[in-house]
Amino acid sequence: MMLSNRDQLALYKRVCALAVEAGDLLKRGFSRRVAVSYKGRIDPVTEVDLASERFIVEKINGAYPDHDILTEEDTIKRKRASRFRWIIDPLDGTVNFAHGFPIYCVSIAVEYDGEVIAGAVCDPERGELFHAARGRGAYLNKQRLHISREKNLERALLATGFAYDIGTSRRNNLGYFARMAKQAQGIRRPGSAAIDLCWVAAGRLDGFWELKLHPWDTAAAVLILKEAGGKYSRVNGKPYAITDPDLLATNGHLHDPMRRVLTGKYRGTNRK
Ligand code: IPD
Ligand code: CA
Ligand code: CA
Repeated sequence: MMLSNRDQLALYKRVCALAVEAGDLLKRGFSRRVAVSYKGRIDPVTEVDLASERFIVEKINGAYPDHDILTEEDTIKRKRASRFRWIIDPLDGTVNFAHGFPIYCVSIAVEYDGEVIAGAVCDPERGELFHAARGRGAYLNKQRLHISREKNLERALLATGFAYDIGTSRRNNLGYFARMAKQAQGIRRPGSAAIDLCWVAAGRLDGFWELKLHPWDTAAAVLILKEAGGKYSRVNGKPYAITDPDLLATNGHLHDPMRRVLTGKYRGTNRK
């Protein structure tokens, strides 16, 4: 059965409202010292990650008890074989958050039959809610979002990120970073993949890539980027699904140049 427009809109509203509420929870937690524990050598989780996740999961369970839920902190194990699945990063940018560095967000998306139909990313520090529903455009609060028009890599501002296994894995993005840094105007590492992607959607950045992402990092923001007119694929140019680890997301004009730099096929002007 097809999802009706009415049902899609109701879910979209719920996704946005939940993201704003969870964003408020994060912001309240940001102003005090939080307890941090470690999932790996440098991979932190704070009490606020867990509180945000519990809050969101409880709300979804209350409103849609039969829907599946995929969360980063894995507080919910049950699989319900529903056509709906919520995908949640309760706090994206945990390292920033734990240090009092004010770039972090909450990301919430909902899938129907395996396709993301609505997503919201709330950045409470800037009062910015990025949101989109499939086929209805992307917005920052009430303003329609559009990607940038930059066509020249040497004038492009890009972002990337590094996975927590950077110190122990060969596939650590440092080679890609070095190659791209020679060709672009600048590269930033804001520390929240969902915000990075939303900022490409908003035209603040011209492109983004990262190698080891998870569905909760990208589910909402990739829909937002797509609805803002952006292009996305795997780093080698093949189609990207949210279960794939690597992602290249751009304003479209820079997609091929960036893909060629990353795959070592672009000589560019700066060869040393
Ligand atoms: C991380 C952030 C970071 C990215 C990492 C992610 P977390 O998510 O999005 O920018 O580089 O790959 O794991 O752990 O803060 O939710
Ligand atoms: Ca997280
Ligand atoms: Ca994340």
